[in-house]
Amino acid sequence: MRKVITYGTFDLLHAGHINILKKAKDMGDFLIVGLSTDQFNLKKGKTAYHSFTHRKIILESIRYVDMIVPEKSWDQKIRDIKYYDIDAFVMGDDWEGKFDFLKPYCEVIYLPRTSGISTSKIKSDLNKI
Ligand code: CTP
Repeated sequence: MRKVITYGTFDLLHAGHINILKKAKDMGDFLIVGLSTDQFNLKKGKTAYHSFTHRKIILESIRYVDMIVPEKSWDQKIRDIKYYDIDAFVMGDDWEGKFDFLKPYCEVIYLPRTSGISTSKIKSDLNKI
C-alpha cells in the first residue's frame, strides 16, 4: 500500500483544498493529512477561523482523507514520514523547493495550486461585504 502525506491548515475549506486532497490521494492508496494545530498556527503568525477540532471534523468527512494527525511543529515531518512509513509527500507549489530536504526519506511532489482561491482571499473578501 502506497502512503501519501500532506500538511496544512485547511481553514474555511474551499475548492483548492479539495483539489489538492483529491490529487494527493490519487498519488497513492492511503492519504494522511497533518493538520496544523491552533498553537502551531500561532507560532506561524496565523489565526484560523475554525478551531483545530472543527477543522478536523470537516476534513475527516472528506472521502479522500484516510487519517488526520496533528501538525505541531516544523520539524516533525521526517519523524512522521518514518513513523507512518510514507512513500510520497505532497504540497501545493507555493511551497516549491521548500521541502526538498525530505527527498532522502520519500518522494516529494509539488502540485499546482488552484488559481484564484485561498483562505486569505475568502477572509479579505468577506471583510469587504
Ligand atoms: N492549496 C491549493 N490551492 C489553493 C489553496 C491551497 O492547492 N488555491 C493547497 C496548499 O498549497 C496546501 C494546502 O492546499 O498544500 C493547504 O493550504 P492552506 O495553507 O491550508 O490553504 P490556503 O488557502 O493557501 O490558506 P492561506 O490563504 O491562509 O495561506
